[in-house]
Amino acid sequence: MSATHIQLDSHGRLLHFLTVEGLTRRHLTDILDTAESLRGVAERRVKKLPTLHGKTVVNLFFEASTRTRTTFELAAKRLSADVLNLNIATSSAVKGESLLDTLRNIEAMQCDMFVVRHEQSGAAEFIARHVKPHIAVLNAGDGRHAHPTQAMLDMFTIRRHKPDFPHLQIAIVGDILHSRVARSLIHALNILGAGEIRVIAPRTLLPAQVETLGARVFYDPGQGLRDVDVVVMLRLQKERMERALLPTEQEFFQRYGLTEDRLALAKPDAIVMHPGPINRGVEIDSRVADGPRSVILEQVTNGIAVRMAIMSITLGNHARPAGGTV
Ligand code: NCD
Repeated sequence: MSATHIQLDSHGRLLHFLTVEGLTRRHLTDILDTAESLRGVAERRVKKLPTLHGKTVVNLFFEASTRTRTTFELAAKRLSADVLNLNIATSSAVKGESLLDTLRNIEAMQCDMFVVRHEQSGAAEFIARHVKPHIAVLNAGDGRHAHPTQAMLDMFTIRRHKPDFPHLQIAIVGDILHSRVARSLIHALNILGAGEIRVIAPRTLLPAQVETLGARVFYDPGQGLRDVDVVVMLRLQKERMERALLPTEQEFFQRYGLTEDRLALAKPDAIVMHPGPINRGVEIDSRVADGPRSVILEQVTNGIAVRMAIMSITLGNHARPAGGTV
């Protein structure tokens, strides 16, 4: 059984959120619509809903994170859950045994949801296969594989600015090879019927057969950025590079960095996105990152509502009787 299947129950409802791959338009639209309805909670005097009252959410982070961990924590707290944060710094590969041991110990604390970030692809799925059936597992980024909640917050941000998906041209620029964000986003864009997805990168930073994911490849931003509606910049993920794939950061910036001049090739109302953390002067110029077209901080805010949506949908589905209606 693949990650695609293990995350759904026999009625096709989401029990875990491990990958966007294989989900339907309805799954994704449901998440986006629920997030839209939860967005207003932040504007209330009391920024809380009782949805997860009495539930315990464990943030299980084996890899560094700022935005993702804190917005997951806020999302859980705004839904009235109790939250436990575990940052387990580890540089070694997943050892089935030790991960399972950690899991069993936390399970013994009677929690209801694991939010997992791990440097190893497949870690969240591994955990989903081994937890007790009442526990929901959300993937907060596994190796180079997937970062589905990031993809959904990106889709949510795009939809708020550019809802006409079939006519959209989106460019994803930079280190595609190591990017779980790019992989999940390309899947989500395809499922929701985006017009054209372009990836722009040097050959050394593109995965083999990236076209099979449903993206058009450009090596030259001068061509790839022309007339796009959305530009998604990615960080050079040096911690995931096993060997030097680039001459220098300066040279990368010269060839691929998003400057005001390069952005001028896109549509005049194009938006600029970045999952963060941003490296100013490496993949993006400060004037663009802080400029009027940047929605980078909006992405962070939107991450809370989107994560609230995914948490309430998955835990809500766990609470339903197996034979219940969708
Ligand atoms: C991304 C990640 O960790 O995959 N960041 C994030 O979740 N906001 C992208 C990155 O690390 O560059």
